[in-house]
Amino acid sequence: MTDVVIGIDLGTSGVKALAVDLNGKTVLEANRSYPLLTPRPGWTEQRPQDWWDGVQGVLSELSSGLSSEYKVVSISFSGQMHGMVSLDRGGEPIRPALLWNDQRTGDAVKWLEGRVPRQTFIERGGNPPITGFQLPKVVWMRDAEPENYARVHHVLFPKDYIAYKLTGQMHAEPSDASGSNCFHLESKTWDREILGTLEIPLEFFPEIVASDARVGALLPDVAKALRLPARIPVVAGAGDNAAAATGLGISSAHPALGSLSLGSSGVIFAPLKGPTPDPEGRVHLFCHADGAYHLLGVTLSAAASLQWLRNTLFPTARYDELTALAASSAPGSSGVRFKPYLAGERTPHMNPDLRGSFEGLSLATGPQDMVRAVLEGVAMSLRDALDVIEPLQKLEACVVTGGGSTSEFWLQIVSDALELPLLKPAAEQGAAYGAALLALRHVQGARADLGGTPEILSEIRPQSSLKAIFQG
Ligand code: XUL
Repeated sequence: MTDVVIGIDLGTSGVKALAVDLNGKTVLEANRSYPLLTPRPGWTEQRPQDWWDGVQGVLSELSSGLSSEYKVVSISFSGQMHGMVSLDRGGEPIRPALLWNDQRTGDAVKWLEGRVPRQTFIERGGNPPITGFQLPKVVWMRDAEPENYARVHHVLFPKDYIAYKLTGQMHAEPSDASGSNCFHLESKTWDREILGTLEIPLEFFPEIVASDARVGALLPDVAKALRLPARIPVVAGAGDNAAAATGLGISSAHPALGSLSLGSSGVIFAPLKGPTPDPEGRVHLFCHADGAYHLLGVTLSAAASLQWLRNTLFPTARYDELTALAASSAPGSSGVRFKPYLAGERTPHMNPDLRGSFEGLSLATGPQDMVRAVLEGVAMSLRDALDVIEPLQKLEACVVTGGGSTSEFWLQIVSDALELPLLKPAAEQGAAYGAALLALRHVQGARADLGGTPEILSEIRPQSSLKAIFQG
């Protein structure tokens, strides 16, 4: 009999689950997608029932796909962060969940900053009020949907709702809770003082346990329906960034090694030993799944900018054709500059209303310059994030993942922009793998090898300074 753990990543487009053996080898994978609801411009929602249907689907597929040689011994999670799942007294969802990228809470953020100084939010919780975070959503609901708000008994993060469905127990863990705007970093508990000032009941929020702690046992009737062993430990897990970093072996044990995800959005993850925020709150500070902390710099439209360019101006081109075209423009894109703020920007601007731009166009500008300008603009936006991160945690290299990292050409541009070596792992493990490692750590305790630094396939070293070109 071979023991396996299951890591579930509850994403925005779908859920992915991996069965991983106790040596860290992935045995089986299952995926389901679910709809994204956009009832109004700027609103993003999902039905908790759709998540739960998707999770039951992947768990059934894994349990029937694993031969009788395998025994599932634990389950854990990674999840889209910041969402608000509102539950009534009986634990039933009151309305669809509001998601991390929902932008309806602009007024709520202004109201919060009027009640509690922005600086107090940063000092106590590491972050200023941000439209996507959970607390502004609670404030929005109190104002906009008082009849729904009156029924709220519990507020959960998305992945914690799934743990509740599997165990009947409600909880939160620090990596997600620190993305709420009502978490006190030093004590790693809900911020009673801030909630008290805002007159939001502390009782809405569940007990916080460590990311690798057991939240409960798999309910026998759920286990039976999913053909999984009853009462196996269900482990809290982590927000998707902390989980992905766990899967890549990024930890505060060696904080100079960060990670960079070049996906739809671009994310720089820097581990941090202590909870020291940027005094201006320009970069997120969250708890890591290893008990320490991390900074998170986010360029909202990274590969999404290239996708936008392709869809808008080059609808029939493949991405490799676009990067080959960009290679015929020199570094600096003949003076063309692109700002990738197509969906507003997080780091360092924290402004959902910013918008993108092309500048420096001339009669000599060709399509190659415009494509290169997009690749460089995204890279320099990541550099803006790194410039805020570095005074708090100096990075010496980043492990790089995400769809955009398949282009060596773009990676060279990013390496030149960051002036940092980028390490390409042999295999992309992803957040579900990090979730599995958290389940493994629970089962094996200190013996669990949490990934370590992954096998590196190639290293891209900076060849020139893009910042110098941009400034010159
Ligand atoms: C992090 C963030 C995203 C979501 C979506 O602050 O908003 O990474 O977790 O996956």
